[in-house]
Amino acid sequence: MADIDVLLNENRSFPPPEPFARAAQVSTDAIYAMAQKDPDAYWAGAARNLEWIAPWKSVLDWTPPHAKWFTGGKINAAVNCVDRHVRGPARNKAAIIWEGEPGDRRTLTYWDLYREVCKFANVLRSLGVGKGDRVGIYLPMVPEAVVAMLACARIGAIHSVVFGGFSPESVRDRMNDAQAKVLITADGGYRRGQVVPLKRNADKALAEAPSVKHVIVVQRRPGGGGDEAFAEMREGRDHWYHRLMQNASPDAPPEPMDSEDVLFILYTSGTTGKPKGIVHTTGGYLTGTAETTRLVFDLRDDDVFWCTADVGWVTGHSYLVYGPLANGATCVMYEGAPDWPERDRFWDICERHGVTILYTAPTAIRAFMKWGESHPAKHDLSRLRLLGSVGEPINPEAWIWYHENIGGKRCPIVDTWWQTETGAIVISPLPGVTVTKPGSATRPLPGCSADLLDSAGNRVETGGGLLALTRPLPAMLRTIWGDDERYVKTYFSKWDGRKNLYFPGDGAKRDKDGYFWILGRVDDVLNVAGHRIGTMEVESALVEHPSVAEAAVVGKAHELKGQALAAFVTVRDGTRPTSELRDELKQFVVDKIGAIARPDDILFAADLPKTRSGKIMRRLLRDIAEGRALGDTTTLADPSVVAALKEQYEEKEG
Ligand code: WTA
Repeated sequence: MADIDVLLNENRSFPPPEPFARAAQVSTDAIYAMAQKDPDAYWAGAARNLEWIAPWKSVLDWTPPHAKWFTGGKINAAVNCVDRHVRGPARNKAAIIWEGEPGDRRTLTYWDLYREVCKFANVLRSLGVGKGDRVGIYLPMVPEAVVAMLACARIGAIHSVVFGGFSPESVRDRMNDAQAKVLITADGGYRRGQVVPLKRNADKALAEAPSVKHVIVVQRRPGGGGDEAFAEMREGRDHWYHRLMQNASPDAPPEPMDSEDVLFILYTSGTTGKPKGIVHTTGGYLTGTAETTRLVFDLRDDDVFWCTADVGWVTGHSYLVYGPLANGATCVMYEGAPDWPERDRFWDICERHGVTILYTAPTAIRAFMKWGESHPAKHDLSRLRLLGSVGEPINPEAWIWYHENIGGKRCPIVDTWWQTETGAIVISPLPGVTVTKPGSATRPLPGCSADLLDSAGNRVETGGGLLALTRPLPAMLRTIWGDDERYVKTYFSKWDGRKNLYFPGDGAKRDKDGYFWILGRVDDVLNVAGHRIGTMEVESALVEHPSVAEAAVVGKAHELKGQALAAFVTVRDGTRPTSELRDELKQFVVDKIGAIARPDDILFAADLPKTRSGKIMRRLLRDIAEGRALGDTTTLADPSVVAALKEQYEEKEG
């Protein structure tokens, strides 16, 4: 039996638009062959684009499942992201163009950023933070988040950013696991017009996180001394950021870091269990993120690059902070929600700041589809030249919508596959070279090796299988903080005894052109009458229907078939969810894929349960479809969504 069956055939393809390809940094595929011949030499070349304090002795030391990159080399990440740009003509270039949700704006040049980072590095040092110490960062999307990360990097402290939407319990657990000394937070941040009370959450968290001795509070709310309602300052422990910065010296010598010294820990909750502290190191991570930013986004000096991800996620780390800044790029940073005050906020931002590269997530794109094309149509998006997608499989219909309504049919789309663990993009088109196909992340990047295997470890030439990474990459995680055994068990135990094979947990198919199509997490694969069905393909068939904006498909126990399909569907604005539409959708899936994928149930939902990073949580939908008590809902963006769905489902069944 195949590990995953292939159901859907997507035949559209898009060569790089001629004007784009002509001007692109990489416009032939020679780089793939070059990198394949000698991947170490390729990555060494990429590392040489960075500034090293001392050269490395060896490029890769690989004792599976552990790998080290550029050992013996000394480097500082903050120097690479800031100092070397202020020595040249980029000194006065905008590094960060920031916009708050209420509409306030700030632009930091590279020189501004340099001074802020140095001063804050001294602030941290004055509180006793040094090399190897852990620092928690629990901030809204404000420039101080970037400053704090880079200041840690400058002095060799290990940052651990906790997404500002997380609860006090999440902050507490992460601070305890990392044994952080300092937490950097804010009185609040803005989200849909409301203040998220970060400092109050932090206070709750810290009541049970005794390792944290100092709290630094960024004042985000207006008013002189800060608003007591949002920030009750505890004597001796709590300090206002702006007060500490007033007296800080801008002279802060950077710590020379070993290439393999830890740069940061980032926790991923996964779908179950205790969060894993993913450990990234300095030289390899910076090499991987800088190189992929340059290649995948075809970055040019005059680009305005907007990665919409929060700094609390790996995408924010790699493509809002380290990758673009290492390249001296101008980045847009936005604090708030995409529908505040109106549903055109993203397009308004793109127009006003002249964004040229937009990197966002399928969950956002599907929301834009649901809201309708009138919102982007109100704005001049003609400066956009490249679009990116990350975080989930992008359904072909959403891809086409993005291409037409945002990209004006002229922008290539890079569908980038990677993970918190890989640190940098692994599978993606090169926009000036690759013929793209909607829904496919295409091929591994130069220097990256991925394969498709069955569960016995045999190669799957074409068809469905399990994704495997067959060679270490410089930006890959090195371990799980404090739990190397879990690292080995989670990522290197899928194919018995073959510790050189990294298992990312995703199912995929490979087509006759060697393109990869990610089909979703293997935990989500359904088994209907012996057919192993990935969620992505059935969902994509549903999204192809003009009334559907988003769909999630799960399996529910079935006497005869083993599992039957249950689909949860949100419709586009202006569509009425009727029982006729339900029947039509079932037939639509049969026509697209075949009777095997016919959903037994379709439930119309106002919203789908998602993690805070926007991934659909199918595990909870399975609980609903099978009438079980709901599992852990604390990692949901909006727990009320799932409760409402459950009620609705039970009503229908009853
Ligand atoms: C999924 C986000 C299909 C995948 C950078 C992966 C994708 C998980 C894509 C990692 C893509 C990410 N196509 N699936 N382009 N990008 N995924 O750690 O299941 O938040 O394993 O990192 O997201 O999510 P994470």
